[in-house]
Amino acid sequence: MVKWIVVIFVFLSVTTSYANPLVIAHRGASGYLPEHTLEAVTLAYAQGADYIEQDLVVSKDHKLIVLHDIHLETVTNVEQVYPDRRRHDGRYYAIDFSLIELKKLTVHERQTPSGKMVYSQRYRGTADFKISTFSEQIELIQQLNKQFGKNVGLYPEIKAPAWHRSQGVDISQLVLNTLRKHKLDDPKQAVYIQCFDFAETKRLKYQLGAKAKLIQLIGENEWNEAPTDFSKLVTPEGLKAIAEVAHGIGPWLPHIANFSEGESTGLVEQAHALGLTVHPYTFRQDALPAGVNLTQTQKILFEQLQVDGLFSDFPDTTKTFLNTLPK
Ligand code: G3P
Ligand code: CA
Repeated sequence: MVKWIVVIFVFLSVTTSYANPLVIAHRGASGYLPEHTLEAVTLAYAQGADYIEQDLVVSKDHKLIVLHDIHLETVTNVEQVYPDRRRHDGRYYAIDFSLIELKKLTVHERQTPSGKMVYSQRYRGTADFKISTFSEQIELIQQLNKQFGKNVGLYPEIKAPAWHRSQGVDISQLVLNTLRKHKLDDPKQAVYIQCFDFAETKRLKYQLGAKAKLIQLIGENEWNEAPTDFSKLVTPEGLKAIAEVAHGIGPWLPHIANFSEGESTGLVEQAHALGLTVHPYTFRQDALPAGVNLTQTQKILFEQLQVDGLFSDFPDTTKTFLNTLPK
């Protein structure tokens, strides 16, 4: 009997093959260069990313710019260039500046409000990196696709849609207009539109007629990312509601596994059972989950949980790991 168990185990371990999970460059190759810059996009492309993420917010003249925060001071020198343009809360809002004004800023590695680097070993240079627009990133990636005969995709995240509406702009409509101009609002195109705000995900599909694949991001209520109760969204009923409107989910790493114990939370399995694709965030080799190293983290993600893609600050590292998996 034991002999058979060994035979079956050996058979499974040599025959298990893994589908090709996607390497999603999180804010470009942001582990190496200032996030969301055209240089970080280019490096992510060169490192073999399958998709490159663009967090999107809006400028005063309603241009879609690629920036993670609705504020500017964490990744630019706005306080030096426009010292008097802060709001009463002391913050500098991208929506208060025209694109021409934003282009005068220099983008640097992400810092805390007190000016400390969030990731201490990352890029320390002072070169004049610039804020880019969604259109510039679409053009760059499409031109590189033409040059290299590849089809690296776009992964735009609609940031704070309800807040943007309160500022007088429909960011989701701007995103769809841009995608439609490039004939990319199409489920067959290499495009995923992601959002934390579940009401907005439904609005994209049912009111704005989005055709591109939609990804519902899962956060923590305390982050105040969106007027969405994420604790309800991860219940079986919540996942069923997501499955009616979205192609997949983008959960936070701790939502899918207790990495130090090597245990699944069951979320990936439940999502897969509903036909949802799963693209968790974020793999950072300089900020790994507690108790696991680089290889253990990726083994749990890709071999044990078999996620369908991964938001990674280090596309090269994730690509290298995936190349070791039996195809
Ligand atoms: O969009 C996936 C992931 O990036 C969500 O978190 O804060 O990095 O945009 P955040
Ligand atoms: Ca994002």
